[in-house]
Amino acid sequence: MSFFQQPITLGRLQVPNRVWLAPLAGVSDVPFRRICQELGAGLTYVEMLSAVAIQYRNKRTLDMCRRHDQEPVLGVQVTGPSAELVAQAIRYLADFPFDTVDINMGCSVRKVVASGSGSGILSEPERISATAAAAREACACPLTVKTRLGMTRRSISIEDTAQRIARAGVDGFVIHGRTRDERYGAPADRHGIRRGIEAARQAAPGPLVTVGNGDLFDWQAAQTMRDETGCDAVMISRGALGNPWIFRDILSGATRHPTLAEWGDVVLRHLDYQESHYGDTELAAITMRKHLLWYIKGFPFNKVLGEQVGHINRIEEGRGYVRAYLREWPGDLPRFEGACRTDARLGVNSKYDPKWDMHRQHDRGVGGVDGGRAVAG
Ligand SMILES: Cc1cc2nc3c(=O)[nH]c(=O)nc-3n(C[C@H](O)[C@H](O)[C@H](O)COP(=O)(O)O)c2cc1C
Repeated sequence: MSFFQQPITLGRLQVPNRVWLAPLAGVSDVPFRRICQELGAGLTYVEMLSAVAIQYRNKRTLDMCRRHDQEPVLGVQVTGPSAELVAQAIRYLADFPFDTVDINMGCSVRKVVASGSGSGILSEPERISATAAAAREACACPLTVKTRLGMTRRSISIEDTAQRIARAGVDGFVIHGRTRDERYGAPADRHGIRRGIEAARQAAPGPLVTVGNGDLFDWQAAQTMRDETGCDAVMISRGALGNPWIFRDILSGATRHPTLAEWGDVVLRHLDYQESHYGDTELAAITMRKHLLWYIKGFPFNKVLGEQVGHINRIEEGRGYVRAYLREWPGDLPRFEGACRTDARLGVNSKYDPKWDMHRQHDRGVGGVDGGRAVAG
């Protein structure tokens, strides 16, 4: 059994493997999570929820808390401007069917940070300790924190943050190897992640699961993350967009780009899940556009298809375009690259920002706040 295939214990939760899907605002909804789970993701998360929105019982936020009965293991992520609000949100969410809770201390979106949520907390070390302690007290299930290396390169604070979080007795800790102001402009810094992991392990009173995140676009990157940081698990973000096969690849330790037939099977299933979750609505189609644009990367003559799927207003329209494309090409045609790459010859484009493929109004994750509900990135 490979390292990533091994089960791992997070608090009292048994997670079946060590390749997890990150909380992704505007992306990690029920349909996408189900696809990733079917392709091997050991743990998936609901999109980041704002503690303020939960306080106001915001309807769209509460809608995001739905769990499909086929979902095996599911976490939720919360962010908030104060320890009290985060703890209150966690207590409220105790009645929802989540297996684990994560506190977001890393979101870099300007308005989120300005309101004191996300990575806004990183400039207030005492609030990191207070929030982790209050969350620990409020949370009856396994608790983790996801954070970054610091606010800027000149103020890397990951060791201090890690110690504060570990001392609060959390069960796990995810580190995205960038600072707040780097966004995607610099490659993920695995040395920084290692420093955080070592500091956390030294400070933790009990077992602590450490998770590496950043620039994981294929199984080799996951292996390097493990080797260079000593993390216990990896969390996949942009690498899963249009490429949910990444979970299967990391678990098996080999890249096997899907054939067109395998691809079609997954894309059509995703369209079905989208329709059954959101109904036969325009919103279902609009929020599916970005996934279709990500899925078509790596197949020949996809420009016209991109134009078509980028404008669908009904799920059935999307099905029609995908089926027509499947009829045009042989089923054993292999995809020549995964997602988030500019070109097979140039390799991974770690500066790629998916928000440019997302819908300004309908997709969370493109920045800004909506009805008191923070959107992440
Ligand atoms: C569309 C999008 C939405 C995101 N939403 C969240 C979120 O809700 N919570 C969170 O902790 N991180 C969020 N992130 C950040 C990622 O989880 C991850 O930390 C970051 O992209 C670095 O990993 P990568 O280089 O492998 O993409 C989001 C990223 C993207 C691209």
